[in-house]
Amino acid sequence: MNNSIVSYFQEIYSSKTFIPLHEPMFMGNEKKYLNDCVDSTYVSSVGKYVDVFEEKLTSYTGAKYAIATSNGTSALHVALKLLGVNENSEVITQALSFVATVNAISYCNAKPVFIDVSKKTMGLSPKKLLKFLEKQTFLNDRGECINKKTKKVITACVPMHTFGHPCEIDLIVDICKKYNIVVVEDAAESLGSFYKNKHTGTFGKIGVFSFNGNKIITTGGGGMIVTDDENIAKRAKHLTTTAKIPHKWEYIHDELGFNYRMPNINAALGVAQLENLKRYLYKKRELTYKYSQFFKNESISLMQEPKGAKSNYWLQAIILKDKKQRNEFLEITNKNGVMTRPIWKLMNELEMFKDSQSSDLVNSKYLEQRVVNITSSVRK
Ligand SMILES: Cc1ncc(COP(=O)(O)O)c(C=O)c1O
Repeated sequence: MNNSIVSYFQEIYSSKTFIPLHEPMFMGNEKKYLNDCVDSTYVSSVGKYVDVFEEKLTSYTGAKYAIATSNGTSALHVALKLLGVNENSEVITQALSFVATVNAISYCNAKPVFIDVSKKTMGLSPKKLLKFLEKQTFLNDRGECINKKTKKVITACVPMHTFGHPCEIDLIVDICKKYNIVVVEDAAESLGSFYKNKHTGTFGKIGVFSFNGNKIITTGGGGMIVTDDENIAKRAKHLTTTAKIPHKWEYIHDELGFNYRMPNINAALGVAQLENLKRYLYKKRELTYKYSQFFKNESISLMQEPKGAKSNYWLQAIILKDKKQRNEFLEITNKNGVMTRPIWKLMNELEMFKDSQSSDLVNSKYLEQRVVNITSSVRK
C-alpha cells in the first residue's frame, strides 16, 4: 500500500485538502424552492412541496403511493408497525447492515434474526434465508411462520440494498411468500437502483428510502414510505401525522401516532434534487468507470453492480485482500486527508443485539474484514 492511492484521490477531486466520503451536490432549483418556502411562510409540516415530492417519487419508482417522513429510520419504524410487528414478533434481516435497520425492529419491541448476506450483492442471501426457514421454522395451523427455537412468529423480513446494489429481491420475496412473511425493503441507499428493470423498494409490501445528507439525493434529513397498498398508504399517512383525524379546528387523535412527517422546507430541497437524479446517476457511473480502471492496476476489486441489476453506485466499495491490507488502506488514506471507512460491524456483535439468533455468517464476516467505502462524491 503506498501514497499513489492518496495522490489518485487528490487528482480525481483536484484537492490537496480534506476530501470527504460523500458530499451532497446542489446544482439546480434548490435555492429557488427554498426561498419560495420561506417567502410563503410554509416551512413546516404543511405545504405543496411535500405533495409534489411524494407524487414525483411515485412516478419515478413506479410505486402507487408515497408518504414522506422525517427520516428513513422513522419510515422503517412505521412500516414495521403497520405490518403488526410487536413484542411477540421476530423480524429477519441481514447481519451486515447499517444499525438503523435493526433499531427500527427494536423500536417495535420485536427481536431481530440475523441471516448471512451474499458475497455478490452484499445484501440478504436468498440461499441462506431458505436454509434457515427450512431448518428452523414451521407453519402453524394459522399459517404463521414459527421459529422452532423461540416459538415466536416471524412476521417480517427486511432485506437491504447495500450501498445501492440491489439484492436478489425477487427470490427473497418468493421465499417469504411461501412462509407468510411480509417483506419490507430497506431501500434507504438505493434510490435510482433497479433490479430486472423494476425499481428497488417496489418488490416488497412496503419500501423505505432515506434522504439523509449523505444519500444520492438529500432533503437535509428525510425518508419515504412507498407501497402499492392503498390501505397501508392511508394508515402510513395517519400514523406519521400524530394519528390526527382531519378537522378544521378539533384535535382528535384516534390512536398512538408519531410526529414523523417531512417538513415542507425539506421536501422543497428534495423536489429540486430529484430533478437532477438522472445526472447524478450518470456521474456516479462515470466515477465507477474511473475507479475500476485504477483499482484493476492495484489488484483491488471494486464492487460492481450484480447481474440483472442497475445500481445507483451511491457509495463506492472496494474489497481488499485481507484485514491487514484493509487497515493499511484506511490508515494511509485517512492520515492524508482522504476520508474512507470500513463497512459496518456485524449487527449481531453490537451490545444491544448480541443475544439475537443468527444463521451462519460466513460471507458477512468475510466482507466485514475487507470492505472499505471510498470517496464517492460527484461534481458538476
Ligand atoms: C441501510 C439504511 N437503513 C436505514 C437508514 C436510515 O435512514 P435515516 O438516516 O434517514 O434515518 C440508512 C441511512 O442512514 C441506511 O443506510
